[in-house]
Amino acid sequence: MSKNPLQPPRGTRDFYPEDLRLRNWLFGHFRAVSRSFGFEEVDAPVLEHEELFTRKAGEEIVEQLYHFELHDRRLALRPEITPSVARMVGARRGALRFPLRWFSIPQCWRYERMTRGRKREHYQWNMDIWGEPSEAAEAELIAAVFQCLDRMGLARADVKVRVSSRALLEETLHETVLRRRPEVFPALCVMIDKLDKIGADAVRELLVDPAGGVGLDAHSADFVVSWLSLRDLGEAVKQAPPGATGASELARLFELLGDYGLSDRVVFDASIVRGLAYYTGVVFEAFDTGRSLRAICGGGRYDHLLETLGGAATPAVGFGFGDVVIAELLADKGLLPETQRALDAVVFAFGEAERGAAVRVACALRRDDASVELVLGEPKLKRVIADADKSGARRLYVIGPDELARGEVLIRDLETGEQTHEAIPR
Ligand code: HAM
Repeated sequence: MSKNPLQPPRGTRDFYPEDLRLRNWLFGHFRAVSRSFGFEEVDAPVLEHEELFTRKAGEEIVEQLYHFELHDRRLALRPEITPSVARMVGARRGALRFPLRWFSIPQCWRYERMTRGRKREHYQWNMDIWGEPSEAAEAELIAAVFQCLDRMGLARADVKVRVSSRALLEETLHETVLRRRPEVFPALCVMIDKLDKIGADAVRELLVDPAGGVGLDAHSADFVVSWLSLRDLGEAVKQAPPGATGASELARLFELLGDYGLSDRVVFDASIVRGLAYYTGVVFEAFDTGRSLRAICGGGRYDHLLETLGGAATPAVGFGFGDVVIAELLADKGLLPETQRALDAVVFAFGEAERGAAVRVACALRRDDASVELVLGEPKLKRVIADADKSGARRLYVIGPDELARGEVLIRDLETGEQTHEAIPR
């Protein structure tokens, strides 16, 4: 069991300064897009009561919980933030102004089997709209995803959002497959979401397994699996009962996305179901066009989540967009930026006699909001210049015995080499 204490636990990451600069660059895009859509940032504890996350539909995310018992309490690290946000909305529902537009960038924990783009912790940008039942909310969210991808430098053709609707599927199955047991629908969705991972035959087996909780007959299972291969919304609508709301919602959503200028970037894809039990309506995922990576982001409508937690029925829709998959895609495309330490000035005193003056220079610069490194110890000037150059600092402030005697600091512009003098502050 002994592990190397110099390594982080498998699947987790240390963020060295260069890693954190990159993370901040990503988060900067997430925050800028959220702000441009009028969203406010929220956060919640990374540790929650385990029961906030335990649902009985056989979801992977529940099996992957990092959980433990402490002082007779069962606690878990959040695998996602959506239930916590629902809890927050429920606690203040009477005082909040709907529709509510909230975003967050939580670190989430899942004990995953690791593959490319899948870690045991990841950061996940979430945007959620609460209190709006119409597809106008879905359209805003999908537009925000594209705005973010565009800002990061991806080309228009690099990513597609694939859209479907659990409501349409439920309505299609209502009078046939689900007639006797409508309550198995969430568990059925969780099973068919595994299609990509385990293939059609294995999904069919799960659906007919009497011990699996869904227990369809072979004919029904075949119908469900074949429905997943539809890529034409018109075909899917034909199989639904007349007047199906899932069909009109999707049609309206595609129409609105046209108004955002996104028609060429969104497609209907019946195989998008999502692996979380709480989705109720439109569901969507973004994929790189080459499909070399797992979903960049995923989301959908979950109008009953708050109710299942004991709160009042409140429509809601949102998405989660991880930091890992997008970083892989940007790296593949050569779009990750070279980030540099942001240092304005280095201040150097030759010795102890000049240190007090150097402190006063650094304090004055910091009061003006500059990022200032005050050189510690007594390195040689040559080494200080080389380090300052490497660190990306713009100016070097030097105080030796001569400068101190004249009451001046020598300022060297590290880009041009130009030298000037300024009075040392008192
Ligand atoms: P999710 O599909 O489980 O949805 O996760 C959303 C995104 O988070 C994924 O598309 C992926 O980019 C990233 N992600 C998930 N798990 C991992 C992992 N192990 N390693 C790296 N990245 C990962 C949710 O979590 C929903 N709560 C999203 C949502 C918000 N729905 C409504 N509002």
